Amino acid sequence: MTVRAVVRGVGHYLPERVVPNAEFEDSLDTSDEWIRARTGIEQRHFAAEGETTSDLAVHAANSALRNAGLEASEIDAIILATSTADLTFPSAATMVQSELGMANGFAFDVQAVCAGFVFALANANALIISGQANRVMVIGAETFSRIMDWNDRTTCVLFGDGAGALILEAQNGAGSTDDRGILSTDLNSDGRYRDILYVDGGVSTQSTGFLRMQGKEVFRHAVEKLAKTARTAVEKAGLTTDDIDLIVPHQANLRIIKSTTQKLGHSMDDVVVTVQNHGNTSAASIPLALSVAQGEGRTSEGDLLVTEAIGGGLAWGAVVLRW
Ligand code: UT7
Repeated sequence: MTVRAVVRGVGHYLPERVVPNAEFEDSLDTSDEWIRARTGIEQRHFAAEGETTSDLAVHAANSALRNAGLEASEIDAIILATSTADLTFPSAATMVQSELGMANGFAFDVQAVCAGFVFALANANALIISGQANRVMVIGAETFSRIMDWNDRTTCVLFGDGAGALILEAQNGAGSTDDRGILSTDLNSDGRYRDILYVDGGVSTQSTGFLRMQGKEVFRHAVEKLAKTARTAVEKAGLTTDDIDLIVPHQANLRIIKSTTQKLGHSMDDVVVTVQNHGNTSAASIPLALSVAQGEGRTSEGDLLVTEAIGGGLAWGAVVLRW
């Protein structure tokens, strides 16, 4: 028998304020047409004044608990993937733990920028298969609107705020590729590329800073690395890309998603796309997309899902899981 980390529930939350592309036309030399054509984005959500990443995460966590039919006290650990934690410390995860009324277990943040949720899933899987936790809540939550330079049209039109959560639970499998749960993970980073996507502030500058990106360079790495990591993860699971039922990619740019899908030999019918409605929500984009997909009835028990993401670091990776 093999212990597997199986999805027990999923949920998400989006802040109320919806910002269509046209809203940027007043203050920037940009257009709805350019943003749609180059990114696929039509709108994004922005957090209200005073609404924090942990606030969004708590809503998503409660939504996942309801979906799973569980109480917070039945969760052993919370891993929160974010690059926009409320404060430098403590972790946003401990804030969520407290808001959920969880006096038990442990909670910590994972910071791998847009790849954060994939890294958090791999960590949760490791905790579960090593017997350190039975149920882990994995959350991706971000308020990238707080680190936008509103004068930089090359970045501020791309990102949005939101949160998604997944509850993983230890279940016994047969040790075969038919098992439900996480079947493989593939994580990578290469700090030589840290300067092509970063925030120019933090503890060392005593300021929060703004996101800076060489978009074209990041794009080039994304189209090269995402299909490769997805393929590697599928092979590690002992499967082939033909076995994939649903691709749930990081939602940064529709052109990147299309190119990766094509390289994996699949059609866009096999892909969950939410970038048009959410923009790039960094570590929140995959759990948001998973939750939307489940809500639309696109996930069935036994389906083989692949998630893949890349972001600042660069950090990138993929997870293969059977729903
Ligand atoms: O989630 C983390 C990973 N991040 C990503 O995956 C993002 C990867 N990069 C991208 O998605 C794309 O590179 C962008 C969407 C950021 C940019 O698209 P692009 O097709 O690579 O455009 P570009 O940077 O080559 O810019 C083309 C032109 C430039 O003008 P010139 O130099 O040709 O005159 C830009 O200044 O488009 C201009 N431009 C804009 N025009 C109108 C850049 N941003 C805008 C804008 N509105 N918002």
